[in-house]
Amino acid sequence: MSFISPLLTPEQLKLEKTVKLGVMASGSGSNFEVICEAIANQQLNGEVPILIYNNPDAKVKERGERWGVKTILLNHRNYKKREDLDQAIVEVFQAHNIDLIIMAGWMRIVTKVLLEAFPNKVINIHPSLLPSFRGIHAVEQALAAKVKVTGCTVHLAELEVDHGPILMQAAVPIFEDDTSETLHARIQEQEHLIFPQAIALRAQQIFTEK
Ligand code: GRF
Repeated sequence: MSFISPLLTPEQLKLEKTVKLGVMASGSGSNFEVICEAIANQQLNGEVPILIYNNPDAKVKERGERWGVKTILLNHRNYKKREDLDQAIVEVFQAHNIDLIIMAGWMRIVTKVLLEAFPNKVINIHPSLLPSFRGIHAVEQALAAKVKVTGCTVHLAELEVDHGPILMQAAVPIFEDDTSETLHARIQEQEHLIFPQAIALRAQQIFTEK
């Protein structure tokens, strides 16, 4: 049971050229994986020239290697300021001619250094129906608030955390016996459906803006 808005047809999502995606991820990378799958099965006319991760033991690194994607570790612990990390990220993405930046579970706050280098081209996914439950532990926040419906949101990133124009959302029910694990799993199923679609949607917008 879910509600997705808006669900687009493959025809509506067709891109006239290949969108180059620079992915940033901190953890497991299941969203990174579905992006690669969507590209492989031609749902998304894209390529991922580079994956940046910040935690040395992040599982996403192995997924990247499995998909033959170049991976770079930029460990935030090695940078004095958030801006310094973002500057390094910008340099990597510019060197790879990236069209869109995809934050696929990037657990760092981004600064204007990144956002101004790629204006309206940084996409984030968040496990709640924004503007509800911003910030960390969004799934736990929804359980604590005892809401009956939550979900996920793909949006353009802005300086304010988990805020910005919404591309797509999907809603899921919360059941009496849900734990944060069962609820997060239900939300992630929907994330995996809408993320490639929302990326295609934004790519279409930037290609026609040019
Ligand atoms: C997702 O739930 C996403 O909404 C949040 O971080 C999680 C990343 O999951 N920002 P994964 O690493 O893609 O599996």
